[in-house]
Formats: sequence, structure tokens, C-alpha cells
Amino acid sequence: MKVAFVGKGGSGKTTLSSLFARHLAARGATTVVIDADINQHLGEALGLDERELAGIQPMGHHLTEIKEYLRGDNPRIASADTMIKTTPPGKGSRLLRPPAHGVPTDPIHDRHSVNVGGVHLMVTGPFTEEDLGVACYHSKVGAVELYLNHLVDGPDEYVVVDMTAGADSFASGLFTRFDLTFLVAEPTRKGVGVYRQYRDYAAEYDVAIAVVGNKVQHPDDVAYLREQVGKDLLTWFPHSAAVRAMEQGRGFALDDFEAAGRAALDTLHRAVDARDKDWVHFTRQAVDFHIKNAQSWANEAVGMDLVDQIDPDFVLGPERTLAQAL
Ligand SMILES: Nc1ncnc2c1ncn2[C@@H]1O[C@H](COP(=O)(O)OP(=O)(O)OP(=O)(O)O)[C@@H](O)[C@H]1O
Ligand SMILES: [Mg+2]
Repeated sequence: MKVAFVGKGGSGKTTLSSLFARHLAARGATTVVIDADINQHLGEALGLDERELAGIQPMGHHLTEIKEYLRGDNPRIASADTMIKTTPPGKGSRLLRPPAHGVPTDPIHDRHSVNVGGVHLMVTGPFTEEDLGVACYHSKVGAVELYLNHLVDGPDEYVVVDMTAGADSFASGLFTRFDLTFLVAEPTRKGVGVYRQYRDYAAEYDVAIAVVGNKVQHPDDVAYLREQVGKDLLTWFPHSAAVRAMEQGRGFALDDFEAAGRAALDTLHRAVDARDKDWVHFTRQAVDFHIKNAQSWANEAVGMDLVDQIDPDFVLGPERTLAQAL
């Protein structure tokens, strides 16, 4: 299952992504968690120190190699240069599987993920001054879009993506790549403001969202969230002393998390598992976004009609990885 955490800046996306990933891994699930935010804090939230963080190879810094690998011998994609973030896989493309049993089986997971207590962390890399005018943040998250478009996840396999704040995620097709999107909302006007924006956009693209309240201190907070978001409110996390202690650099294990928080993690897990996988829909949306990108800017930028990259007979899904393995 592919899951995203979105919401207002500071609402708790990174904290909840890291806690949910730890929860999944503790249940024995294969879990990849990706930091796709401009400001990269997910590694820290998982307890990595500076030296360990420095050892991670950011996906956003190796876009060409990633494209080169994924295109495989797909005859419709002549070179990595002609591959854009929305170029969909087709016959001959290399597909990815989450690293079951803790062992990466492809060079993408092998090079770009680190195992943090059973969770496989991947990062886009920070947006630095050197990037100004050379690369844009969206080309870095493009690595995540390509990754998700080539990833076949099976039962009990999860990819959790910590997204950038606010509605910036709409700038690409990335926000449509998830089986479920958790919108983290503090019980404040601004917190629910982002929800409205997201809900309207999501409805247009048939994206499933569930609101997750965070930093709830009082029953009135829950009543406020209910009043504002109605049935979209899935669950909520308390304002947590254990999370605060973690922020203060003290050790943290899931068992330290308050019972209400652990129950909320269970609720997220069940909500994700209740989603039906629809590979046809997933593939069609990828293709639609590719056509949109090709026609709005990429055909001109690359100098060819990138709509030709679409393999009309290709549907991503478990059958494809099986065929690839034979
Ligand atoms: N349930 C909680 N209880 C207590 N503190 C929390 C909780 N959730 C998040 N926080 C704190 O709130 C702050 C912001 O959280 P976090 O960094 O996860 O938000 P974010 O949405 O990822 O922010 P950004 O938009 O900057 O990426 C952090 O100091 C974090 O420790
Ligand atoms: Mg964050």
C-alpha cells in the first residue's frame, strides 16, 4: 500500500510518518518510508544521528541513474534524457518491489535506502542554495513519482511518504499516487483550512483522503475537528509527552507512546488495509498526468512527442513483476 502524510507546515506530518512507519515495521510489515519534503527531518525523527544521515544517498541527486535503471530496455524510452517524472513504465521497463525480509533486491533500494530498526528510509535530499536556478524542488520529488510509478507493492508491504507542506504537493501528479492520503490537521482554523483546499482538489482527481487530528489536548478539540471536517475525520493523536521527549533528544520506542496514540496508529493501519488495490486506475492516472505534462511543457523541453512513451497495453501490477522475474 502507498500512503502519504500531507498537511499544514508544522502539523506533524514528519512525526506521524515516522511513528506510522515504526508501527508497521513492528507489526512485521515490509516498510519503506520516504522523506519528500524540502526540509528533511524524517531521518532525525527515526532517531538517526548526523553521521548516519550523511551516509544516505539522496534519490534526488541521482535522477539520471534512477531513470537509466527504470527504463530498462523499454523501446519507447530512448534514453534517460527523454524520461520525465511522469514517464510511465511499459514493456521492458524495470519494476521495483519493496525490500521484503529486509533485503533490497534492486539497485534503487540497495543504493538509496538505509535500514533504521526495520524501516527502510529513503530521502529526496535537501533543496540547497546550489540548486537555485539549476534544479527545482519538483525535479527532486520527481524521483519519488518515478519510484512509485514503478513500484509493485504486495500485501503487507507499505510505502509511507512524508510530503511537503500545504498544497504544494499538487504541483505534480505525485498526490494521486497513493492508496490513501492522511491529512494531518491540528484543531485550528489554519489546520482545517488546508483540509478544505486538499479535499476540493482530491475530489477532482478521485484521491482518497482521511483527516488525522494531531496535538489534541481536550475533548473540545475533537468536537472542533468533527464539526469542521465531519465524516472525513478518521482519528486523532493526543498532544504527546513522549513525542516531546523525543524532540528533546531522549530515546523513544513505540511502547513509550501514549495508549491513545498507539490506538490511533492501529486505526491508520486498518484504514490503509481496508483500501482496495486498483492497478488499472493507478496506471490510468499515471498516463493521464504524463499526457498533461507532455503537452503543457515537456514535449517542447525535450523536443519530441512524449505521448509516444505510453505503452497502451501495459497495466502495472503483481502479474508484471511475476513476468519480469521469469
Ligand atoms: N502529537 C504530538 N505531540 C506533541 N508534539 C508533537 C506532536 N506531533 C508533532 N509534534 C511536534 O510538533 C512539531 C512539528 O512536527 P513535525 O515536524 O512532525 O511537523 P511537519 O508537519 O512535518 O512540519 P514541516 O511542515 O515543517 O515539515 C515538532 O516539534 C514535533 O515534535
Ligand atoms: Mg516535516
